[in-house]
Amino acid sequence: MSYSMIARVLIVYLMVISQLACAPKAAPYANGPVMSQKNIRKTFQPILQFMDVKPGMVFADIGASSGAFSVMMATLMDNSKIYIQDIDTTVLRSDNLNKIISYYSKQSRKNLTSKNSFYTIIGNSLHSNLPNSSCDIIWSNGTVHNFTSIDSMMKDLGKKLKPGGLLFLRDSFKNDHGEGSYCSDAKCAKPLLTIDEFLNTMNRNGFKLVKRTPDMSGYPVFGFTYLN
Ligand SMILES: C[S@@+](CC[C@H](N)C(=O)[O-])C[C@H]1O[C@@H](n2cnc3c(N)ncnc32)[C@H](O)[C@@H]1O
Repeated sequence: MSYSMIARVLIVYLMVISQLACAPKAAPYANGPVMSQKNIRKTFQPILQFMDVKPGMVFADIGASSGAFSVMMATLMDNSKIYIQDIDTTVLRSDNLNKIISYYSKQSRKNLTSKNSFYTIIGNSLHSNLPNSSCDIIWSNGTVHNFTSIDSMMKDLGKKLKPGGLLFLRDSFKNDHGEGSYCSDAKCAKPLLTIDEFLNTMNRNGFKLVKRTPDMSGYPVFGFTYLN
Protein backbone atom coordinates (compact mmCIF):
# COMPACT_ATOMS: atom_id res chain seq x y z
CA MET A 1 0.00 0.00 0.00
CA SER A 2 1.40 3.44 -0.97
CA TYR A 3 1.97 6.20 1.58
CA SER A 4 -0.86 8.27 0.04
CA MET A 5 -3.24 5.29 0.30
CA ILE A 6 -2.25 4.76 3.98
CA ALA A 7 -2.78 8.50 4.62
CA ARG A 8 -6.24 8.39 3.00
CA VAL A 9 -7.26 5.31 5.06
CA LEU A 10 -6.00 7.05 8.21
CA ILE A 11 -7.97 10.22 7.43
CA VAL A 12 -11.20 8.24 6.86
CA TYR A 13 -10.56 6.31 10.11
CA LEU A 14 -10.05 9.56 12.07
CA MET A 15 -13.22 11.07 10.55
CA VAL A 16 -15.28 8.02 11.60
CA ILE A 17 -13.82 8.09 15.14
CA SER A 18 -14.48 11.83 15.52
CA GLN A 19 -18.08 11.37 14.29
CA LEU A 20 -18.59 8.65 16.91
CA ALA A 21 -17.10 10.87 19.62
CA CYS A 22 -19.49 13.71 18.68
CA ALA A 23 -22.60 11.51 18.40
CA PRO A 24 -25.07 12.40 21.18
CA LYS A 25 -25.08 9.92 24.06
CA ALA A 26 -28.42 8.25 24.81
CA ALA A 27 -30.09 9.98 27.78
CA PRO A 28 -29.80 7.71 30.83
CA TYR A 29 -33.48 8.25 31.71
CA ALA A 30 -36.65 9.92 30.39
CA ASN A 31 -38.37 13.16 31.41
CA GLY A 32 -35.67 15.12 33.10
CA PRO A 33 -32.41 16.94 32.55
CA VAL A 34 -29.08 15.39 33.52
CA MET A 35 -26.88 17.34 35.94
CA SER A 36 -23.31 16.85 37.18
CA GLN A 37 -22.57 16.47 40.91
CA LYS A 38 -20.90 19.90 40.80
CA ASN A 39 -24.08 21.54 39.46
CA ILE A 40 -26.30 19.50 41.79
CA ARG A 41 -24.32 20.78 44.79
CA LYS A 42 -24.39 24.36 43.45
CA THR A 43 -28.14 24.29 42.77
CA PHE A 44 -29.60 22.21 45.58
CA GLN A 45 -27.22 22.58 48.56
CA PRO A 46 -28.40 26.19 49.25
CA ILE A 47 -32.07 25.09 48.98
CA LEU A 48 -31.56 22.13 51.35
CA GLN A 49 -29.71 24.42 53.77
CA PHE A 50 -32.50 27.01 53.59
CA MET A 51 -35.05 24.26 54.40
CA ASP A 52 -32.74 22.97 57.18
CA VAL A 53 -33.03 19.40 55.93
CA LYS A 54 -31.28 17.07 58.37
CA PRO A 55 -30.35 13.35 58.26
CA GLY A 56 -33.23 11.08 59.24
CA MET A 57 -35.98 13.44 58.11
CA VAL A 58 -39.06 12.48 56.11
CA PHE A 59 -39.08 14.57 52.93
CA ALA A 60 -41.68 14.85 50.18
CA ASP A 61 -41.32 16.39 46.72
CA ILE A 62 -44.81 17.29 45.44
CA GLY A 63 -45.31 17.62 41.69
CA ALA A 64 -41.89 16.07 41.22
CA SER A 65 -42.47 15.07 37.59
CA SER A 66 -40.14 12.08 36.86
CA GLY A 67 -38.35 12.53 40.19
CA ALA A 68 -35.04 13.45 38.52
CA PHE A 69 -34.60 16.57 40.68
CA SER A 70 -35.76 14.72 43.82
CA VAL A 71 -33.07 12.07 43.29
CA MET A 72 -30.44 14.74 42.62
CA MET A 73 -31.39 16.28 45.99
CA ALA A 74 -31.22 12.82 47.56
CA THR A 75 -27.51 12.59 46.64
CA LEU A 76 -27.06 15.34 49.28
CA MET A 77 -29.33 13.70 51.88
CA ASP A 78 -28.76 10.93 54.43
CA ASN A 79 -30.94 8.34 56.07
CA SER A 80 -34.09 10.02 54.77
CA LYS A 81 -37.47 8.73 53.72
CA ILE A 82 -38.25 10.46 50.42
CA TYR A 83 -41.73 10.61 48.91
CA ILE A 84 -41.68 11.44 45.20
CA GLN A 85 -45.16 12.55 44.20
CA ASP A 86 -46.97 13.72 41.07
CA ILE A 87 -50.36 13.32 39.39
CA ASP A 88 -48.93 12.45 35.97
CA THR A 89 -48.39 8.70 35.60
CA THR A 90 -46.78 9.17 32.18
CA VAL A 91 -43.80 10.99 33.72
CA LEU A 92 -43.61 9.49 37.24
CA ARG A 93 -42.95 5.79 36.55
CA SER A 94 -41.09 3.44 38.85
CA ASP A 95 -39.09 1.82 36.00
CA ASN A 96 -37.78 5.24 34.97
CA LEU A 97 -37.25 6.32 38.60
CA ASN A 98 -35.09 3.21 39.14
CA LYS A 99 -32.93 4.28 36.18
CA ILE A 100 -32.58 7.77 37.70
CA ILE A 101 -31.62 6.33 41.11
CA SER A 102 -29.12 3.98 39.50
CA TYR A 103 -27.59 6.79 37.39
CA TYR A 104 -27.11 9.14 40.36
CA SER A 105 -25.89 6.32 42.62
CA LYS A 106 -23.05 5.75 40.15
CA GLN A 107 -22.44 9.45 39.57
CA SER A 108 -22.32 10.31 43.30
CA ARG A 109 -20.56 7.01 44.19
CA LYS A 110 -23.22 6.48 46.89
CA ASN A 111 -25.71 3.65 47.02
CA LEU A 112 -28.75 5.90 47.18
CA THR A 113 -31.22 3.15 48.03
CA SER A 114 -29.22 2.09 51.09
CA LYS A 115 -28.60 5.73 52.09
CA ASN A 116 -32.28 6.76 51.72
CA SER A 117 -35.62 5.07 51.03
CA PHE A 118 -37.74 6.18 48.08
CA TYR A 119 -41.53 5.91 47.68
CA THR A 120 -43.55 7.05 44.68
CA ILE A 121 -47.01 8.44 45.30
CA ILE A 122 -49.61 9.29 42.67
CA GLY A 123 -52.03 12.01 43.71
CA ASN A 124 -54.90 13.80 42.00
CA SER A 125 -55.78 17.45 41.48
CA LEU A 126 -57.36 17.66 44.98
CA HIS A 127 -55.18 15.37 47.12
CA SER A 128 -51.52 14.42 47.40
CA ASN A 129 -52.27 10.91 48.75
CA LEU A 130 -49.31 11.18 51.14
CA PRO A 131 -49.83 9.52 54.54
CA ASN A 132 -51.28 11.90 57.17
CA SER A 133 -48.86 13.61 59.62
CA SER A 134 -45.90 11.94 57.91
CA CYS A 135 -43.51 14.66 56.71
CA ASP A 136 -40.89 16.87 58.35
CA ILE A 137 -40.40 18.81 55.12
CA ILE A 138 -42.61 19.12 52.07
CA TRP A 139 -40.95 20.75 49.06
CA SER A 140 -42.63 21.70 45.83
CA ASN A 141 -41.04 23.50 42.89
CA GLY A 142 -42.89 25.12 39.98
CA THR A 143 -46.28 23.73 40.97
CA VAL A 144 -48.26 26.57 42.58
CA HIS A 145 -49.31 27.92 39.18
CA ASN A 146 -50.06 24.35 38.03
CA PHE A 147 -52.46 23.47 40.84
CA THR A 148 -56.00 23.62 39.44
CA SER A 149 -57.51 23.32 42.96
CA ILE A 150 -54.97 25.18 45.04
CA ASP A 151 -57.15 25.49 48.21
CA SER A 152 -57.79 21.76 48.32
CA MET A 153 -54.11 20.95 47.70
CA MET A 154 -52.89 23.33 50.40
CA LYS A 155 -55.36 22.02 53.01
CA ASP A 156 -54.28 18.49 52.08
CA LEU A 157 -50.54 19.28 52.34
CA GLY A 158 -51.09 20.88 55.76
CA LYS A 159 -52.48 17.56 57.02
CA LYS A 160 -49.45 15.68 55.68
CA LEU A 161 -46.97 17.64 57.81
CA LYS A 162 -45.88 16.31 61.20
CA PRO A 163 -46.50 18.82 64.01
CA GLY A 164 -43.83 21.48 63.50
CA GLY A 165 -43.18 20.33 59.92
CA LEU A 166 -42.56 22.88 57.18
CA LEU A 167 -43.87 23.37 53.64
CA PHE A 168 -41.53 25.06 51.13
CA LEU A 169 -42.81 26.39 47.81
CA ARG A 170 -40.71 27.81 44.98
CA ASP A 171 -42.37 29.20 41.89
CA SER A 172 -42.64 32.14 39.52
CA PHE A 173 -45.10 34.89 40.40
CA LYS A 174 -46.85 37.62 38.44
CA ASN A 175 -44.65 40.68 37.84
CA ASP A 176 -41.81 39.20 39.94
CA HIS A 177 -38.24 38.48 38.74
CA GLY A 178 -39.10 39.65 35.20
CA GLU A 179 -42.23 37.47 34.90
CA GLY A 180 -45.42 38.80 33.32
CA SER A 181 -48.97 37.59 33.96
CA TYR A 182 -48.49 34.09 32.52
CA CYS A 183 -45.91 31.31 32.91
CA SER A 184 -43.02 32.09 30.55
CA ASP A 185 -42.79 28.42 29.50
CA ALA A 186 -44.74 28.51 26.20
CA LYS A 187 -45.92 24.90 26.74
CA CYS A 188 -47.50 25.93 30.07
CA ALA A 189 -48.55 29.61 29.70
CA LYS A 190 -50.83 29.29 32.77
CA PRO A 191 -51.77 32.47 34.70
CA LEU A 192 -49.49 33.37 37.60
CA LEU A 193 -50.56 34.59 41.03
CA THR A 194 -49.06 37.76 42.46
CA ILE A 195 -47.03 37.14 45.63
CA ASP A 196 -49.79 38.86 47.67
CA GLU A 197 -52.49 36.60 46.16
CA PHE A 198 -50.31 33.58 46.88
CA LEU A 199 -49.68 34.60 50.51
CA ASN A 200 -53.44 35.23 51.00
CA THR A 201 -54.15 31.75 49.61
CA MET A 202 -51.70 30.20 52.05
CA ASN A 203 -53.11 32.23 54.93
CA ARG A 204 -56.75 31.23 54.30
CA ASN A 205 -55.69 27.57 54.20
CA GLY A 206 -54.04 27.66 57.63
CA PHE A 207 -50.39 28.37 56.80
CA LYS A 208 -48.13 30.96 58.41
CA LEU A 209 -45.09 32.29 56.55
CA VAL A 210 -41.93 31.69 58.60
CA LYS A 211 -39.10 32.02 56.08
CA ARG A 212 -38.66 33.69 52.75
CA THR A 213 -35.76 34.06 50.40
CA PRO A 214 -36.10 36.63 47.62
CA ASP A 215 -34.17 34.59 45.10
CA MET A 216 -33.05 30.94 44.95
CA SER A 217 -31.66 30.17 41.47
CA GLY A 218 -33.87 32.91 40.02
CA TYR A 219 -37.15 32.39 41.90
CA PRO A 220 -38.28 33.03 45.48
CA VAL A 221 -38.75 30.23 48.04
CA PHE A 222 -41.35 30.55 50.81
CA GLY A 223 -41.42 28.40 53.96
CA PHE A 224 -44.65 27.87 55.95
CA THR A 225 -45.83 26.17 59.14
CA TYR A 226 -49.34 24.75 59.38
CA LEU A 227 -51.46 26.19 62.18
CA ASN A 228 -54.48 23.85 62.27
C1 LIG B 1 -43.68 22.71 35.99
S1 LIG B 1 -43.76 21.04 36.52
C2 LIG B 1 -42.54 21.06 37.80
C3 LIG B 1 -41.86 19.74 37.94
C4 LIG B 1 -40.76 19.68 38.98
N1 LIG B 1 -41.23 19.97 40.30
C5 LIG B 1 -39.60 20.57 38.63
O1 LIG B 1 -39.07 21.22 39.53
O2 LIG B 1 -39.18 20.62 37.46
C6 LIG B 1 -45.30 20.93 37.41
C7 LIG B 1 -45.61 19.53 37.88
O3 LIG B 1 -46.72 19.62 38.78
C8 LIG B 1 -47.52 18.48 38.57
N2 LIG B 1 -48.84 18.75 39.15
C9 LIG B 1 -49.84 19.53 38.68
N3 LIG B 1 -50.89 19.52 39.53
C10 LIG B 1 -50.54 18.73 40.56
C11 LIG B 1 -51.19 18.31 41.77
N4 LIG B 1 -52.42 18.72 42.09
N5 LIG B 1 -50.52 17.50 42.61
C12 LIG B 1 -49.27 17.09 42.32
N6 LIG B 1 -48.60 17.44 41.19
C13 LIG B 1 -49.23 18.25 40.33
C14 LIG B 1 -47.49 18.28 37.06
O4 LIG B 1 -47.89 16.97 36.69
C15 LIG B 1 -46.02 18.57 36.77
O5 LIG B 1 -45.22 17.42 36.82
